[in-house]
Amino acid sequence: YPLKHPHEMDWSFAGPFGKWDLGQLQRGFKVYKEVCAACHSMNLVAFRNLEALGYSEEQVSAIAAEYTVTDGPDASGEMFDRPATGSDYFPAPYPNPEAAAASNNGAVPPDFSLIAKARAVERGFPTFVFDLFSQYQEAGPDYIHALLTGYGEEPPAHVTILDGTYYNPYFISGPALAMPQPIYDDQVDYPDGTPQTVDQYSRDVSAFLMWAAEPHLVERKATGFITMIFLIIFAVLMFLVKRRVWSGFA
Ligand code: HEM
Repeated sequence: YPLKHPHEMDWSFAGPFGKWDLGQLQRGFKVYKEVCAACHSMNLVAFRNLEALGYSEEQVSAIAAEYTVTDGPDASGEMFDRPATGSDYFPAPYPNPEAAAASNNGAVPPDFSLIAKARAVERGFPTFVFDLFSQYQEAGPDYIHALLTGYGEEPPAHVTILDGTYYNPYFISGPALAMPQPIYDDQVDYPDGTPQTVDQYSRDVSAFLMWAAEPHLVERKATGFITMIFLIIFAVLMFLVKRRVWSGFA
């Protein structure tokens, strides 16, 4: 079957000086919360982590309080439900993989904590050789964007689609996956006037998932930059020292 390659998108966090667009991350979180979280868990992200998206501690507490988590055992050995707080992790939509599979035609919706990194490998030879030098690290969000915007095409005549799966030419283990098109135009309300299109939702949620998978990306790049400057100065110093040390043997 014909597998299509994701388009390379223009991400704010790409390149050596990449930065998060906090407005975009907040919109992406809204899409996750209102659409994807019905099926996809995000087990490694705690509510307090959302402060990195520009929310205050009070806002994070208010977001957390919308969720219920199971705690315990209490003094009498019972488990009990309570509203979540900043230190809790996002509760999963299904109690276990069996329940998730039973609701999704036998497929388990993957956890979202690391998905943007987990789907970042799909560039075969020779592209991955150039990627070493071009610093291309956005294959994951490119893929998620392509997958979400890639529904709606008719499969080629020779491709059979199994019942309960949906054709998507970008799906890496294609030709079809158990997730129906999850998001449509105008499905999520954007109060800031950003276009409410599938393309925009997909960009925003992909950026959000990149943040979830690599929350320290900006710090990593900044540290890397300082390290390179240090190494360049150090190399020049070493070169001068070497000339000095060996000058007597000329
Ligand atoms: C798989 C994204 C909403 C059910 C996936 C995958 C991604 C994804 C990236 C992995 C594809 C791969 O393995 O390469 C999203 C996003 C959503 C969303 C960004 C929100 C906009 C949903 C919803 C449901 C769902 C609402 C349930 C109705 C599934 C299932 C799979 C899956 C069952 C596994 C498909 C398979 O392996 O055949 N999704 N999803 N997703 N998703 Fe979603």
